[in-house]
Amino acid sequence: MIKIAIIVGSTRPGRKAEAVAKWVYEIAKKRSDAVFEVVDIEDFNLPLLDEPVPPSLAQYSQPHTKAWSAKIAAFDAYVFVTPEYNHGTSGALKNAIDFLYHEWNNKAAGFVGYGSAGGTRAVENLRLIMGELQVADVRAQVALSLFTDFENFTTFKPAALHEKSVNAMLDQVIAWGGALKALRNK
Ligand SMILES: Cc1cc2nc3c(=O)[nH]c(=O)nc-3n(C[C@H](O)[C@H](O)[C@H](O)COP(=O)(O)O)c2cc1C
Repeated sequence: MIKIAIIVGSTRPGRKAEAVAKWVYEIAKKRSDAVFEVVDIEDFNLPLLDEPVPPSLAQYSQPHTKAWSAKIAAFDAYVFVTPEYNHGTSGALKNAIDFLYHEWNNKAAGFVGYGSAGGTRAVENLRLIMGELQVADVRAQVALSLFTDFENFTTFKPAALHEKSVNAMLDQVIAWGGALKALRNK
């Protein structure tokens, strides 16, 4: 069965990302066609990229990079839970992505965004980044609104309809994550 990481894309104190990622995980774990784990970038204490050699050469010098690499390498696919900061993803998530290269290649990804416009601009930003990392990002995505899915713009209370969109996104991530296994095993 393929392994999917649900990546918590914010390290901001008081972040919404954690509640959103837990909600995604609760929906995902009802499925029997993949195994899921929440991966919190905050747990890896990544500084701003401090590797002297570009990640594509995989010559990591820092213990935090090695730990992050080992974690990410273990998955077949990813669900990025992303806030929208100035119409892009968070600096913390972009930095964490930039630390690695081969670990992401030939894998699949889906997105759960949130913001005033459903985090859609942050997800578009991530799709460009995925192209460079050779990640197959799926069409179906989850767009949560700060206006209607967070009480007082704070407490996460997602509308019921979003459970269906999480599963639609996961269907595609699981299909592509599995299909690309042949390529990864080459
Ligand atoms: C630096 C910054 C920039 C932001 N820019 C946007 C934006 O462009 N679009 C948007 O919808 N929300 C924007 N927001 C609001 C965030 O969507 C909101 O604060 C959200 O809770 C951030 O996610 P987090 O709590 O998981 O860090 C911004 C927030 C911050 C802190």
